[in-house]
Amino acid sequence: MIEIKELCKTFRMPDGRQITALSDINLSIQDGEIFGIIGLSGAGKSTLVRCINLLERPSSGQVIVDGRELTALKPKELRQARRSMSMIFQDFNLLMQRTALENVCFPLELNGLRGEAAWRKKRAMELLELVGLADRANSYPSQLSGGQKQRVAIARALATEPKYLLCDEATSALDPNTTRSILDLLRRINETMGVTIVVITHEMKVIDQICHRVAVIDQSRIAELGRVSEVFTNPRSDIARELIIPRDRAVLDTAGGRRIRITFDGSDAKAPVISEMVLECQAPVNILFADTREFEGVTHGHMIVELPSDPRQAEKLLVWLKNSQVKWQEEA
Ligand SMILES: Nc1ncnc2c1ncn2[C@@H]1O[C@H](COP(=O)(O)OP(=O)(O)OP(=O)(O)O)[C@@H](O)[C@H]1O
Ligand SMILES: [Mg+2]
Repeated sequence: MIEIKELCKTFRMPDGRQITALSDINLSIQDGEIFGIIGLSGAGKSTLVRCINLLERPSSGQVIVDGRELTALKPKELRQARRSMSMIFQDFNLLMQRTALENVCFPLELNGLRGEAAWRKKRAMELLELVGLADRANSYPSQLSGGQKQRVAIARALATEPKYLLCDEATSALDPNTTRSILDLLRRINETMGVTIVVITHEMKVIDQICHRVAVIDQSRIAELGRVSEVFTNPRSDIARELIIPRDRAVLDTAGGRRIRITFDGSDAKAPVISEMVLECQAPVNILFADTREFEGVTHGHMIVELPSDPRQAEKLLVWLKNSQVKWQEEA
């Protein structure tokens, strides 16, 4: 388990100014879960993940991994504790002069897991098989696509048999299909090898697809934390709402009327709510936004509709909504 307690991080700039990257962060990541950290650019996500493995030293607060407080460890103990964690990045960080296989061998050479060269090679080959790249073992990174490079990076990260895998925007440089396949691979690694995964991203779709829980970070603080299905269906903070339904969606801006957000939380998601409403009220509504997703086999969704401009028709719809089982609220 990774526990973060009252963690703060400030950077001092050369001109003496202080930048607060993280304030009073409290969270715990359970063994076996896929935990997401989402926020806009500059929110503090990378700083947080770098504090988890102490690449960055917190200004105050504690990082406790499997009961050991990392900030209190001596350098040698810290090196040892860090071995339980691996990291992957947006730009893959592969060694360009080494083949895929040699890249995967690299941490085995470094980490005192020396053994025979033949053993290292065999182990690296197994890992390349796991990520579906055995046939490209002798290719150099420059000969691989982005998705393939990230697969090599994942194989390399797993070489030391980490308990935790920290992923900082690991799919941000990839197209949607490749993103999906890399996320599927991470989920398989979580499920079959029991690796606890921390996923940093600015994209809600990444969180939806594989995370169990999510912390939403806004301006160096945790704005919201909970199960993904809960945060998605019932976002309480402005920032979570914005990440789920970006405010800049052109269609929302052009709509002048009163807007209602309808939330589906599983049981009724597939019920034809809107058509029922329109039929019963005999009033037209304009659907501005609709999005449904599956979490744990249950469909959840959001819909934003614009009320008719005729106040009597609008009132009729509001009365219908009030008398229905539907969860809704008027948008500001
Ligand atoms: N080494 C550093 N020195 C000074 N300021 C830093 C340093 N690292 C990060 N910061 C500042 O801390 C804040 C948080 O940065 P961080 O990189 O953690 O954000 P992020 O959420 O990862 O953003 P992005 O999505 O763009 O990667 C920013 O204001 C950034 O400028
Ligand atoms: Mg970052």
